Amino acid sequence: MAGNENLTGETEYLAGNDGIARAADLLRRGELVAFPTETVYGVGADARNETAVGKIFEAKGRPRFNPLIVHVKSLEAARAFVDFPPWAETLAEAFWPGSLTMVLPGLGRLPGVVSAGRPSLALRVPDHPLAAALLAEVDAPLAAPSANPSGRVSPTTADHVFDGLSGKIAAVLDGGKTDIGVESTIVGGEGPRLLRPGGIAREALEAVLGCVLEDMVGGGAVLAPGQLASHYAPNVAVRLNALSARPGEVFLGFGPRRGDQSLSDTGDLAEAAARLFSALRELEKLGRPIAVAPIPETGLGLAINDRLRRAAVPRG
Ligand code: TXA
Ligand code: MG
Repeated sequence: MAGNENLTGETEYLAGNDGIARAADLLRRGELVAFPTETVYGVGADARNETAVGKIFEAKGRPRFNPLIVHVKSLEAARAFVDFPPWAETLAEAFWPGSLTMVLPGLGRLPGVVSAGRPSLALRVPDHPLAAALLAEVDAPLAAPSANPSGRVSPTTADHVFDGLSGKIAAVLDGGKTDIGVESTIVGGEGPRLLRPGGIAREALEAVLGCVLEDMVGGGAVLAPGQLASHYAPNVAVRLNALSARPGEVFLGFGPRRGDQSLSDTGDLAEAAARLFSALRELEKLGRPIAVAPIPETGLGLAINDRLRRAAVPRG
């Protein structure tokens, strides 16, 4: 949990029921508030307020062409903003609240800045008691990307949010460590397609849909505009599928391959996902290249490997 030592800059530290009331009050006044979800912390603004949503792009240094996910309290609330084709009804019934985002035909009821001018809108119902309480209290859709400066690793604790956005947002609502640890799975298009692997395994979606999800990349074009190659980037070089560390490297272990940090000693992918971003943050502080043990490409391993591949893209 973040302590009072984090009360730096102008960003307020909020917790508990008073914190929710204060967070809702700030959001109603068009301010930005970071809040926990079951995946990662988001930085939210009232999605109906164009000026407030604009502040998100400023605070994160996020390119304006990258659209935002709108968080709503229920499937019924979502219907005010998008059309649900049959596949989306099925997935919403099965996975909401939960770490599934669906990109659906928008009804044009929110300012264009939210969806970066696209006709589609990304929506999800988060499965976290504080997020749910905040959405109920503020009674508005909240546009909320992950609460990190653009191009950095997503935050899984309130401390991480302060590290990246202190002084740039009005407040952080502390809900401790997030459970899932990687961002939501994004599905969209007419098929539908998997646009970003995430907290809900592809296999689980396919089991409910009764068919195979088309791939996230079609005709060489990346479909989720935020899926830029080096989106999830620590400060140091990252080498994947390493069986051991080379001289000078720190090792991020998995299963029997133990390291300076381990994602999961027992080879549990859910545990590994939950630890991934804090482990990368801890290791990057050491300032040495990071070698990462192989992670199986099944279940949550898809999301973990996706984030690791982005972290490993060489940068100048
Ligand atoms: O778990 C999560 O999804 C977290 C929590 C806070 O909910 N949010 C999150 O947001 O990861 P963000 O902004 O970091 O990632 C959202 C992704 C981006 O890659 C964006 O391009 C994509 O969703 N996206 C949003 N709207 C879209 C749209 N209309 N069409 C295609 N992709 C969209
Ligand atoms: Mg993000």
